[in-house]
Amino acid sequence: MSLDFPLDRTAAPVPGAERRAILADPGFGRWFTDHMAVAAWDAERGWHDGGVRPLAPFTLHPGAAVFHYGQEIFEGLKAYRHADGGVWLFRPGDNARRFARSARRLALPELPEAAFVRAVEELVRADAAWVPEADGGHADEGGGAATSATSPSASGSSSSAPAASAAPASGSGEQSLYLRPFLIATESFLGVRPSAQALFRVIASPAGPYFPSGVTGVTLWVTETYSRAAVGGTGAAKCGGNYAGSLAAQIEARENGCEQVLYLDSAGHGTIEESGTMNLCLVTRDGELLTPALGTILEGVTRDTVLALAPELGLRPVERTISLAELRAGAQDGTVTEVFAAGTAAVLTPVTGFKGAGYAFAVGDGTPGPTTLALRRTVLDLQYGRTEDRRGWLHHVC
Ligand SMILES: Cc1ncc(COP(=O)(O)O)c(C=O)c1O
Repeated sequence: MSLDFPLDRTAAPVPGAERRAILADPGFGRWFTDHMAVAAWDAERGWHDGGVRPLAPFTLHPGAAVFHYGQEIFEGLKAYRHADGGVWLFRPGDNARRFARSARRLALPELPEAAFVRAVEELVRADAAWVPEADGGHADEGGGAATSATSPSASGSSSSAPAASAAPASGSGEQSLYLRPFLIATESFLGVRPSAQALFRVIASPAGPYFPSGVTGVTLWVTETYSRAAVGGTGAAKCGGNYAGSLAAQIEARENGCEQVLYLDSAGHGTIEESGTMNLCLVTRDGELLTPALGTILEGVTRDTVLALAPELGLRPVERTISLAELRAGAQDGTVTEVFAAGTAAVLTPVTGFKGAGYAFAVGDGTPGPTTLALRRTVLDLQYGRTEDRRGWLHHVC
């Protein structure tokens, strides 16, 4: 049975002037669009009741399994407005497949790939007015794209934009509509077993440029107090519990003057894994783009994208185990010339230094490297339709 997502349009959208004020300076994750995509699943009927409806709170029984056992998964992807006004998704099928893999790991029902993509598409179509203008400026070389400081008049949460505190190295003007599909276990019972009911939702939030005043570098805190994942655990799944467990490590990083965390393997703390919401990549002096092999890390769409694009920038993609000792020695003797983190939200974030218990080291000269900035530009140019999409990664919505 195929799941459909008919639109029930809201009678009370955010007024146009208010929406435009929000889009002038959306930040990240602070504002939500007028609609959400929905679907329900239960063991008897399977997937049903798909639709795009007005964004609204929903009620759950206090016994719902998601509240007690954290049976929940989510995704993150973006819709991009191209210079001609068209709106496109980037590799949504990869997010759909990862959503299904996460569902399998969390014993949740798998949403067929076509239904996942359809739900996202229909929501973006309904809320197309919320997809920010392309702001096609190629500001990576220091132009600094203009983002208005207009304060939106709507009320909402005041969470701040993602942290990236070092001095701006160059500007970047990309804006997008961030999409957040998620699936929660809703059967009401106490006892640890898979829920026989689940709810799927997709919500959307306009996203301003991740680096409003220029692409900055971050310093990663190498935690040996906390682990993110273990062999056989849930590290490769995108489930809420992984992120709840990362918050204490993030606090530790902040207390040590770092913006993000670098996790090591849980068994011996000898090999590098990934950051809290991004995969890690190293650029070496002899032209490798080196990244930790899959296993306990999240299989990032951006990671896969940069591995595929690497040869176009004269880099050899290599996926293998990388020890912390190798990273430290390489950064210090110049074998490792650049490090960056890769993820949907920031695309590529230069990592300009590391700190751990009793040590600190910089990468290169401590500023964002040219290969990182060139790769970042290459990915953005593809996502915003400024270069030819030879791999069929772009998916037209409207
Ligand atoms: C733990 C983790 N690693 C890596 C990534 C990067 O994945 P993607 O490039 O698909 O956004 C994310 C973001 O989803 C993440 O949460």
